[in-house]
Amino acid sequence: MSALPPDYDSEPCRWQGWRSSRDVHDLIAPELHGPVLDIGCGEGRLASSLGDDVSWVGVDSSPNQLAANPHRPVVLADMGALPFHDNTFAEVTHLWCLYHVTEPRRAVAEAARVLRPGGTYYACTSSRRNDPELMPEGYPATTFDAEDAAEIVGTAFADVSVEHWNRAFFPIETREELRAYCRHHYVPADRAERPDLPLWLTKRGCLVRAVKG
Ligand SMILES: C[S@@+](CC[C@H](N)C(=O)[O-])C[C@H]1O[C@@H](n2cnc3c(N)ncnc32)[C@H](O)[C@@H]1O
Repeated sequence: MSALPPDYDSEPCRWQGWRSSRDVHDLIAPELHGPVLDIGCGEGRLASSLGDDVSWVGVDSSPNQLAANPHRPVVLADMGALPFHDNTFAEVTHLWCLYHVTEPRRAVAEAARVLRPGGTYYACTSSRRNDPELMPEGYPATTFDAEDAAEIVGTAFADVSVEHWNRAFFPIETREELRAYCRHHYVPADRAERPDLPLWLTKRGCLVRAVKG
């Protein structure tokens, strides 16, 4: 099991094929009252889903991603060592990012540290059995897959609940879009040439919520 190497600065084009399978940003936005710490905030999808009255801070280790993010304030930092005091935020999120680190338990512990007592933590990720139409043999294990997510979050939180998904959310309409998708997901390039279009991929993954005691 290994972390997916982040290449948001070395190969920014690969990232363009990414699309959130379950729209977790819109799903959790109504639950967030702030102050929110959005760890691995990327280009700011979560902040774009929040109302103007919700205080938000983004953290990311990629200068490219932060430059593309229209929301402020943002902080360039590694999720393994957050530059914030204990018990600062009402909500802390790790959306689609923990598979990039070799020690997700440490990152979750850091998130728990900066979360206020009674505050809510959110993390989401894909399953190794995602996209069976393209990857019938399954994806290689990463450091934070849906199969292990609750157990990993449970190392820092006692009160953990998990919402799984297992269905198609949107079609891939064009061959170019499918090629970009395969490139983004490290799927062998020739698999983009086979399926009929539009292609409805079965998305499997989970959202983990946890409350700090
Ligand atoms: C797939 S993107 C998800 C972005 C955003 N959370 C979203 O849902 O749209 C993963 C993000 O995690 C960031 N990231 C990867 N490793 C990180 C680390 N060690 N510390 C902070 N951010 C990291 C990347 O730079 C990238 O912006």
